[in-house]
Order: sequence, then C-alpha cells, then structure tokens
Amino acid sequence: MIDILFADTLPADAVAIRPVLAADAAALPGAAAFRFAGKPGTMLDTLAGDARTLTIGVGEGDLAAADKLGSALVARLLASGTVAAAVDLSGLAIEDKPAFAARVALAARLRSWRHDVYRTKLAEEARPTLRTLTIVGAGEGAEAAWADGAGVSEGVAFTRTLVAEPANIIYPESFVARAKAALEGTGVEIEVLGEAEMREAGMGALLGVSQGSDREAQLLVMKYDGSGGTREPVALVGKGVTFDTGGISLKPPAGMEDMKWDMGGAGAVAGTMLALARRKAKAHVVGICGLVENMPSGGAQRPGDVVTTMSGQTVEVINTDAEGRLVLCDAITWTQKRFAPKTIVDLATLTGAMIISLGHEFGGIFSNDDSLAAELTAAATAVGEPLWRMPMADAFDKMIDSPIADMKNVGPREGGSITAAQFIKRYVDEGVRWAHLDIAGMVWSSKPGTFFEKGATGYGVRLLDRFIADNFER
Ligand code: BES
Ligand code: MN
Ligand code: ZN
Repeated sequence: MIDILFADTLPADAVAIRPVLAADAAALPGAAAFRFAGKPGTMLDTLAGDARTLTIGVGEGDLAAADKLGSALVARLLASGTVAAAVDLSGLAIEDKPAFAARVALAARLRSWRHDVYRTKLAEEARPTLRTLTIVGAGEGAEAAWADGAGVSEGVAFTRTLVAEPANIIYPESFVARAKAALEGTGVEIEVLGEAEMREAGMGALLGVSQGSDREAQLLVMKYDGSGGTREPVALVGKGVTFDTGGISLKPPAGMEDMKWDMGGAGAVAGTMLALARRKAKAHVVGICGLVENMPSGGAQRPGDVVTTMSGQTVEVINTDAEGRLVLCDAITWTQKRFAPKTIVDLATLTGAMIISLGHEFGGIFSNDDSLAAELTAAATAVGEPLWRMPMADAFDKMIDSPIADMKNVGPREGGSITAAQFIKRYVDEGVRWAHLDIAGMVWSSKPGTFFEKGATGYGVRLLDRFIADNFER
C-alpha cells in the first residue's frame, strides 16, 4: 500500500493532482474539448513541459467524491512509472477539508493494496511504482483524522491478505500464527483453543466439520479492551473455513478454488481487531474465529451423522457442505459462556443463496433486534459496505426440525440463507442482541471497486469499525 504524507506545499518531484468542483469545471482550459464536466472520478491528464498534472472532478465536493478522487488517482498512477503524487486541496472551496482529505487518503491507500507475492514474472510495466501520496492544504485536524484511517487501512489490508492467500498457506494454525504476528504489541490479547480443548468444551459440531481434515481446528480468541475495564465486551464471531470442499457432500470442481475465501468472516473479525487496536478505540471488543478445513476423507463426517453441539442441542448433518453454521453454533455458544456479551455480531460466507438474493452489492443482515440491525445498517451505509435486512420467522425455523435430532443442518432450497440464519439463532441466548451478516457475495470481487482492485475486498472491517465507533465508544 502507498504511504500518505501531509505537507504545506507541493513536493517538486510529484505528479500534481488538482481536484475540481463540477461548478468550476467549465472555466478550465480544455474542459469543452475533452467534455470534462467535473463529475466525480473523471479526469484530464495534461503535460506542461515536464510537469504532469491530473485534474480530477469532485462533483459537489462531498465525501463520496473524496473516495472517488483517491481511488481514481491510484487507479491511474499506481503502475504508471510515477513514484510520488500530491493532491492539492488548497484551492478547493469545500466545507470540511480535513474530513475530505482523510477520505481521499483512505480511499487511495486501500485502492493501492496488492497481493503480488506469487507473481515472480510480473511484467516490469505492470509493477506498482507509486509509493507516496502527499496531501497539500488539508487543513487543521486532517492528520489526526487520518491517524484513525491509517489504523483502519492496516486492518483492511490484513483481512485482504488472509482472504487472498491460498488454502495451502492459510489453514487454521497458520491463520492463528498470522493473527499473532499482526496483533503482537497492539494491546490485543490472544487465546487459542486446539481440538483437545474444544473436545473438552463439547464442541461436537465444529469438530465434526474438522474431522475429515489433516489440519487441526483452532478457536482463535482476540481480546481488546480500550475502555479501561469500564465496559462489557461486544462479541464479533467469524466463520473461518479455510477451505470448503463441501466434505463428503463434495462441491462440483468448477469454481471450487473460490472456497479458499470461505474464511472471509473470520478474516474480517481479525482485521477489525487490528483496526480497533491501531486506532486505539475506546471500546471493549472480543473477536472469536472458528477455524476449520472442510475436507472429505476416510475420517470425514457422513451425511446423516448426528452431532452434539456445545449447547447440548443435537444436529442431524444432512449435508456436510452446510458446515459454516456447524462451526458458528459452537463458536457462539463458547463466546456466550466465556464472555456473556449483550451484543453478538457474526460474519460468515454462509450461503450461495445469499448471492442469488442480493448479488455482490449488499451483504445480508439477519437479526433478533431492530436497534442492532439499524446500527449495523447505518454503519454499513456510511462506509459504503452496504447491508440489506433479511426476514426471520418461525415458519422458517420449523423447516430445520429433524425427525431424529433437535434439528437438521439444512432446510429446503428455497430461503436457504434464512433457514441458515434460523439455525444460528437457535444457539443465541435469551436477551442477547444478535446479528448475522451473510457476506458470501462480498468478500471477493471479480471487478475493481472504489476501495479495491479485483480480488479480496476486506469487506466488513470498515463496517464493524464504524459500528463500534458509533455505538460503543461514546
Ligand atoms: N461456503 C459455502 C457458501 C458459499 C457458496 C459462499 C458460494 C460463497 C460462494 C457454504 O459452506 C455452503 O456450501 N453452503 C451451501 C449450503 C447448502 C448445502 C444448504 C450452499 O450455499 O450451497
Ligand atoms: Mn459449504
Ligand atoms: Zn462454507
């Protein structure tokens, strides 16, 4: 990722970037010839002597335009040969310049993230060259606002790396090792349960999923208390299936490689912990990741097996590919027993049906509490990681009743994301505010977005960070 600097004057060696309001665009030389109207993200690339200037539209000058500005300049300059760029905000007539500057910086930094570690033959002209973005004339308070953004960008980058790495590199134990390395010295305390401890705790559902894998399952617990012991913890719980073959209910080969990112919920939880610690959030948050690999083998669990969850409830495993809920139910039970949180948010790439419902534009949110759903949806909208509320109802709950156990792990094809959420709800204690975010369509993108190149998006980190900032730090 590029570095962000602040300065009072334009550095001599940097490509100058001049944001222009739509209202001022027409007066610009060349505007008519290039049909430049100052729309957010559109640009004029000009050369005067040796000096290159990028003029970029910022429309009305709102914060969404700041995002587009940061994103557009990086998309254009990242691998252009340019090493340094500088955005000059001094002439821009907008209201809250420091906030605008911090948003430009965050969008630019996030958009510049790459995962090129395995590309040993990347062509010279495709290699990123841009190293720094200097922001000039950002105004009082911009650097302080950016300090928070910088922390969040570290968290997002960490999540993206976990998601992008293949499953021979990221498996339960190596996920834990990466989290330990990233969180070292940040004030986040780590606790890890291996299979022996989880067996002791009675986590038969999570362990059943792991049973076919040679990799040992892990429960990763990350504790951060920036409240000085004054607040109760909020719990974030992530599905961390480091590879999902489907198990004995094997998935078809086409696209199975995507299932390396079936740990995107856990990745978002780990990245959020890093973000919160880096920006020294004044909140008390615990992050719990259920980490397993779902493999078929002679030892794998079979369709029809009955497992006993940590809660004592039994599950008939009809389909071993509906493994995420089996991991989450035990992780949530353990979390409640250990921390007694009043608020739990779980994140999971739980169902393909979620993608059928909402595509790649919204994550789905299911909740037993209207205020919690509203808080999360508001945070999601504010950071551009939108959520859409999905229904829950007893009629869907009945669909997972089993004739031989307390429940089965799948319902009918119809409403597949909802019955999955109903399953998890059966493990949430009375009085706990709970929300489940099905982010199956959001953690990976086949096309670039404002904040990401195609690939791992880091979805969830900025959303959760904002949710914590707005609801648990004041
Ligand atoms: N990890 C998948 C869900 C998924 C599928 C995420 C495609 C992203 C893209 C999950 O474990 C799964 O396999 N779900 C099944 C549930 C079904 C067996 C009830 C599904 O969605 O097909
Ligand atoms: Mn599955
Ligand atoms: Zn899965």
